[in-house]
Formats: sequence, structure tokens, C-alpha cells
Amino acid sequence: MAQQIENVGVLGAGLMGHGIAQVAAGAGYSVVLREVDEGTLQKGLGKIEKQLARAVEKGKSTQEEADVVRGRITGTIHYQDLADCDLVIEAITESLPLKLEMWREVDQIVKPQAVFATNTSSLAVIDQAAVTSRPGQFVGLHYFNPAQVMKLVEVVRCVTTDDEAFATALEFARSEGKLAIPTKDKAGFIVNRLLVPYMLDAIRAYEEGVGSVGEIDEAMKAGAGHPMGPLTLADFVGLDTLGSICDVLFDEFRERRFARPPTLRKMLSAGWFGRKSGKGFYDYSGDSPVENAGL
Ligand SMILES: NC(=O)c1ccc[n+]([C@@H]2O[C@H](COP(=O)([O-])OP(=O)(O)OC[C@H]3O[C@@H](n4cnc5c(N)ncnc54)[C@H](O)[C@@H]3O)[C@@H](O)[C@H]2O)c1
Repeated sequence: MAQQIENVGVLGAGLMGHGIAQVAAGAGYSVVLREVDEGTLQKGLGKIEKQLARAVEKGKSTQEEADVVRGRITGTIHYQDLADCDLVIEAITESLPLKLEMWREVDQIVKPQAVFATNTSSLAVIDQAAVTSRPGQFVGLHYFNPAQVMKLVEVVRCVTTDDEAFATALEFARSEGKLAIPTKDKAGFIVNRLLVPYMLDAIRAYEEGVGSVGEIDEAMKAGAGHPMGPLTLADFVGLDTLGSICDVLFDEFRERRFARPPTLRKMLSAGWFGRKSGKGFYDYSGDSPVENAGL
């Protein structure tokens, strides 16, 4: 039997967190969105407002509907405001030490019956569940970017997850209109297990001179029917996030296909994190993206 969810807490208002908060509010839940500081929080809330305004402009919702959705989201920088949440979803930086530190705090504040979920792309769910006092009520809810648009949520059962928490998570994702696919707590789950080596291989193909950045992307769009080329996709995911995911997959499986290519390592040292930093395989400073001349 699934638990009744009314109040949802979301940790992190970055690329994923702001979208996860917006989707939950859009499905009628009352949402508390927590960030580390006021500036980052306002940036995340601003992105939600922009998305809602765009939906009104496009005629997909009315101004009144957009106002109601926005009204359901409360921003905060205090963990204390999550106390009454029935479900807490974390979408903070992909770093196990940071996530563990956060859960230790949140676990002491949020009511004991609440379910906890991680949106991690690659870390083991059990490692996070184990530091809380409720490993039975811990699941993975893996959304895709942009969360407002992408239909899939991988619902991850770890070894400690109990039936009620798993049913609650599946039911919650479905109530948001998502396609909820159950999966096991294996690094990368289904999609990243297959997609990350593909993006890394595209970077290696570029390194080996098989094609330019644009040629590799255009070839995969026209030849494989993909809506977006692999290097555009890597910029979209965030090269820092991609780097963290491939490190975790490599640690877990020790296979070359998950290893960080040298080009990715150098781009990260340069601070080129993809679309979100303005530069990655493409330069986003102009009206439309052009290949990054610095590569
Ligand atoms: N980028 C993707 O395509 C994607 C897709 C699915 C899942 N994910 C996962 O989602 C998570 C977030 O990724 P992202 O791309 O949104 O990263 P991001 O860097 O855009 O955002 C992370 C945010 O978390 C905030 N944060 C850090 N510690 C916090 C804390 N203790 N409390 C509240 N906020 C905190 C940061 O200030 C930052 O704004 C990661 O676990 C990642 O693996 C990412």
C-alpha cells in the first residue's frame, strides 16, 4: 500500500532540482525547495518562473494556473522547513560525501514516516539509505533532464527498500504523469548504464579525429535518428556531472568504456561544464551555439 503524499521536499534547485520541484507542484503537491544560499535559491526559483511564463506564452497553461503552481513552491535555505514533508527528494551535487552529510542532517529533522529519495545518476542508493535511520523508506527517483519534459522516472529499489516505500515512490511518479520504470540499485541503472559509454565513445571518436564535434553530432542525428548528437547531449547533461557519473561507473565495473577520456578531463580543468557554464563542446555565448574554438 502506498503512503499518502501531500508535502514534498526538494533539495537542490540546480539543473534537476528546480525541474523536479516544478513537476511536483504542477501535479498538485505542496513543495519546499531548499538551496545552500539565497542567491542560488533565487536563481532556481527564477528558472521555474521563466518556465511557467513560457508555458503561458505558448498557450499551454493560463496565467492563473501558472500562479497556482508557483504558489505551491516555497523556497528556503533552512533544513528545518522540510520537517513536515511526506517525501523528500534530493537533487544536490553528485558527490557522495556531500549527500551523506546532507542526509544525516535531514534525517534528524524530517518526520520519521517520510520517504526519502535520491535523484542520483550513478551513486549506489544503499550508500545513502544506510546513513539514515530509515533505510527501509529509502528509494531512488531518477528523473531525466529537463524533468519538466522527459517522461521517464527510474524508480530504484535498493536492498533495504520496503514494499510500502517502493509502492509510494512508484505511485508518486505516476501521479506526476511520468512513466515509472522500476529498476535495481546497480550503478547507472538502465539509461546511464547504456548512455554514458555512448557519450564517452563520442568524445574518444572526436579525440581520434573520426569527425569534428559538429560532424559527430550531425552524423548521429541523421544516421541514427537521434534528436540530439552525443556531444550536444554531453553539454546538456553537464560535463562535470558526466565526469562524476563515469568515475562512479568506472570504479564499480573497472571497464575502459566507463573511463574519463583525456579531453573531458582537460575541459573540466578549464571550467567548461557545458551549456550551464556557457562553454563545453560548443560555445553558447552567441545567439546560437558554435563549436568551441578552444578545443
Ligand atoms: N544533469 C543531469 O542531466 C542529471 C539527470 C538526472 C539526475 N541527475 C542527478 O541530479 C543531481 C543534481 O544534478 P544537477 O545536474 O541538477 O546539478 P547542479 O550542479 O545543476 O545542481 C546541484 C545544486 O545542489 C545544490 N546543493 C548542494 N548541496 C546542497 C544541500 N545540502 N542542500 C540543498 N542544495 C544543495 C547546489 O548549490 C546546486 O545548485 C545529481 O545527483 C545528478 O547525478 C542529473
